[in-house]
Amino acid sequence: MATEKGAVLVTGGNRGIGLEVCRQLGRRGMRVLLTAKESAAGEAATGALRSEGLDVIFEPLDVASQESIDALAARLAQREQRLAALVNNAAITLDGFGADVAERTSAVNFFGAWRLTERLLPLLEEHGRLVMVSTGSGELANLPPEIRRRFDPPPSKEALAALVREFVEDVRSGQYARKGWPRSAYRISKAALNALTRRLAEELKGRRVLVNAVCPGWVRTRMGGSSAPRTAEQGADTIVWAALLPPEGPTGVFFRDREPIDW
Ligand SMILES: NC(=O)c1ccc[n+]([C@@H]2O[C@H](COP(=O)([O-])OP(=O)(O)OC[C@H]3O[C@@H](n4cnc5c(N)ncnc54)[C@H](OP(=O)(O)O)[C@@H]3O)[C@@H](O)[C@H]2O)c1
Repeated sequence: MATEKGAVLVTGGNRGIGLEVCRQLGRRGMRVLLTAKESAAGEAATGALRSEGLDVIFEPLDVASQESIDALAARLAQREQRLAALVNNAAITLDGFGADVAERTSAVNFFGAWRLTERLLPLLEEHGRLVMVSTGSGELANLPPEIRRRFDPPPSKEALAALVREFVEDVRSGQYARKGWPRSAYRISKAALNALTRRLAEELKGRRVLVNAVCPGWVRTRMGGSSAPRTAEQGADTIVWAALLPPEGPTGVFFRDREPIDW
């Protein structure tokens, strides 16, 4: 059984909500594997948390790179690192809208989280937890009906990946509006992440892995901007809670403020 002395890996841990998730997990007695795509930033964040007395180790990881994911998985496997939880926090929102934006956004927010999760699953303890950091803007209610139907019920993982690629191609060919896609790569990437969460929750029930998504609310970070009402500390709260759920805790649920919300 995972205990609070276990290890938790967090993506995008160098700043924003991810950094605060690392801090709160460390304060709860966890060993934190803080990952970041830029080593200097990751090492600086790790140093800051260690100087607060927390057990934090830095691991480089670009979630958009399969090579980087494989290298991380190999390092962890080599030292027989087991994980009590994985927090898929890293994400991007890019300015503008076009095929390049759609492709890069889905590469980080959806494919990155998916590929990393698949690669690290063998290291996850029984009763381990997977936390997908999502957003209310990816909720089904925010999608046009014809697109919503394609994400709900959630298709197989392969069909989901094909759906995201179809979105990118429809943006590239200029067909997206005719086909009903919203003009937001971020929204589609997170709607796909939510559907993935639901599929993984079903798939991993046999292993008793708890798989949930969390919306942190609107948070003051580089992504959220300075007008956002919530602090990173507030945004991190439900993510940390989901990463430390007891073995009999919920799975396949979307949470905000520790309460279920609609997919
Ligand atoms: N802030 C909000 O209001 C809000 C609302 C709803 C949901 N969320 C979600 O909360 C999560 C954290 O957001 P945030 O506000 O903390 O954003 P942020 O301040 O922009 O931080 C994003 C983090 O993701 C990392 N990242 C980006 N691309 C990456 C890649 N390819 N590989 C590894 N790491 C990568 C960034 O690293 P670099 O520093 O190297 O770029 C950074 O550490 C995201 O999933 C976001 O969608 C945020």
